[in-house]
Amino acid sequence: MPTVFLTRALPDSIMREIRRPVRLRFNHEDRPLSKEEILRGVRKAEGLISMLSDKIDREIIEAAPNLRIIANYAVGYNNIDLDAAQERKIFVTNTPGVLTETTADLTWALMLAVSRRIPEAEQFARSGKWTGWAPTQFLGTDLFGKTLGMVGMGRIGQAVARRAAGFSMRVVYTSRRRLPIQEEKRLQISFLPLSDLLRESDFVSLHLPLTGESHHLIDRKALGFMKPTSFLINTARGPIVDEKALIEALRRKKIAGAGLDVFENEPAISRSLRNRKEVVLLPHIGSASLETRIRMGRIVLDNIVAALAGRNPPNMVN
Ligand code: GLV
Ligand code: GLV
Repeated sequence: MPTVFLTRALPDSIMREIRRPVRLRFNHEDRPLSKEEILRGVRKAEGLISMLSDKIDREIIEAAPNLRIIANYAVGYNNIDLDAAQERKIFVTNTPGVLTETTADLTWALMLAVSRRIPEAEQFARSGKWTGWAPTQFLGTDLFGKTLGMVGMGRIGQAVARRAAGFSMRVVYTSRRRLPIQEEKRLQISFLPLSDLLRESDFVSLHLPLTGESHHLIDRKALGFMKPTSFLINTARGPIVDEKALIEALRRKKIAGAGLDVFENEPAISRSLRNRKEVVLLPHIGSASLETRIRMGRIVLDNIVAALAGRNPPNMVN
């Protein structure tokens, strides 16, 4: 049986499934592995199952002479050096499709949380300090009827857009490639260039992968186009937003708030963000439902099994 190295334990039921067709070596501790530990782990492995939090760089790839597949347990794969993998003809795969709806749900949770001040109000209710209903307590901002501006319109973006109908929101989007008119009609979305989208939207939500091109796409200038009443939502990747510029925009009240599931230097979250009431912070839980994490595991397994049997894995990204 081929050896597969897994950098972090997955939900139990999927661990049992993965163990059937391969000799599984894995991290038995509930913590991320260091680079040294990953280097040691992959040395004899034919397959590697990596987390989005593991940086799989050239050094790791070159330390694994037998490696044939890197199966990332995520839809995003910016943590992997694709060029180094390509040179060695190692497959790189991701887990598209199965986490789309789960991540779209969380995007809406963040929009509602930040606009209706849910975490702040919840903490207050829990504190025992509430003395009664008041006409001016925890006043938030309506979501229904507003404009949602979406940057990126892939699977997750489309799932977010579909939910907008229930809130009677107008949806505008921008993306590298415009969708066919029929698709725009079906989704009830219209295309705008980024600067116009930023000017018109009450909520700006990011749904694009992190690449050289999208790094710091939302910078000082972009934030400057946004309305002082609007919110930024990021469930994609932290470095798409220039976090320093975001903190500055919040401080100067250039925008009303932010809902963030991802950060520029994860897992570090800057104190300036943590101290602000008008931001809602989550520890990268976009795909974190048990059902979805099991489905992601099955996709990883399908890819591993195919690659190690000499076939093209179904979810190749390279
Ligand atoms: C989560 O961020 C993922 O890319 O799956
Ligand atoms: C990937 O970005 C997706 O939209 O599923």
